[in-house]
Amino acid sequence: MAQFTLPKNSQVTEGKTWPRPQGANNLQEFRIYRWNPDDGANPRVDTYQVDRDDCGPMVLDALLWIKAKVDSTLVFRRSCREGICGSCAMNIEGQNALACTMGIDECQEHAKGKKTGAVRIYPLPHMPVIKDLVPDLTNFFAQHASIEPWLQTETPAPEGEWKQTPEDRARLDGLYECILCACCTTSCPSYWWNGDRFLGPAALLQAYRWLIDSRDENTGERLDALHDPFRLYRCHTIMNCANTCPKNLNPAKAIAEIKKMMISREI
Ligand code: SF4
Ligand code: SF4
Ligand code: FES
Repeated sequence: MAQFTLPKNSQVTEGKTWPRPQGANNLQEFRIYRWNPDDGANPRVDTYQVDRDDCGPMVLDALLWIKAKVDSTLVFRRSCREGICGSCAMNIEGQNALACTMGIDECQEHAKGKKTGAVRIYPLPHMPVIKDLVPDLTNFFAQHASIEPWLQTETPAPEGEWKQTPEDRARLDGLYECILCACCTTSCPSYWWNGDRFLGPAALLQAYRWLIDSRDENTGERLDALHDPFRLYRCHTIMNCANTCPKNLNPAKAIAEIKKMMISREI
């Protein structure tokens, strides 16, 4: 297998090559970003060989295998293992994805034509790193909270539930499925440069979900809160968000719909 080399100007150093599992003859190489901000050393990329015959089919299975059998110090988030909690989002072979729903074979297909058959795994891009593959999502979740993602009403609450027609409920399809994994937001170049002020695709998709909820009675105030050169209008329709979303949602379309709502209320 050809050797993977880091770019010359990279601050990420070549890390440790961990021992191959004994007796394994179906190996897959993984190159994984490692960084502990407390130890003062530069980030590094460690190399692991995973025994495919002893490991499940997904990238998360490989990470769990490495942690259990080779290197217990490797740090990453995961919970549900089935694409629901959003916690295992990371950058796999250059694309933001959920480790639990990305097959190891899919990565290899993605890597075809490159110099190495290794699967390269980094944390979600352009976020502070807490350790290894764990990004700090404090700002991401604060931005989600800032759009006030709950039902807001003026009229007294009904005795039972707030009802919707099936048609009104259907308008939330393609929005409510968001699992807040941050794959979209951390793939957005506008967010990379203005993440302190631009809300980013995930928070804006959620904002639109509440703007078009037929039961919500705070639409005007919600639009007022978004009417800002940065919070909404830094989206330049680059579409990385829609291309990367592991739930096949389209935040860029939701953002465009919010902009249309802004225009139609100004006419
Ligand atoms: S469409 Fe907008 S939100 Fe999506 S990646 Fe592009 S700039 Fe970012
Ligand atoms: S829109 Fe998709 S990529 Fe973005 S946070 Fe939601 S599920 Fe993740
Ligand atoms: S572990 Fe929950 S989405 Fe991957």
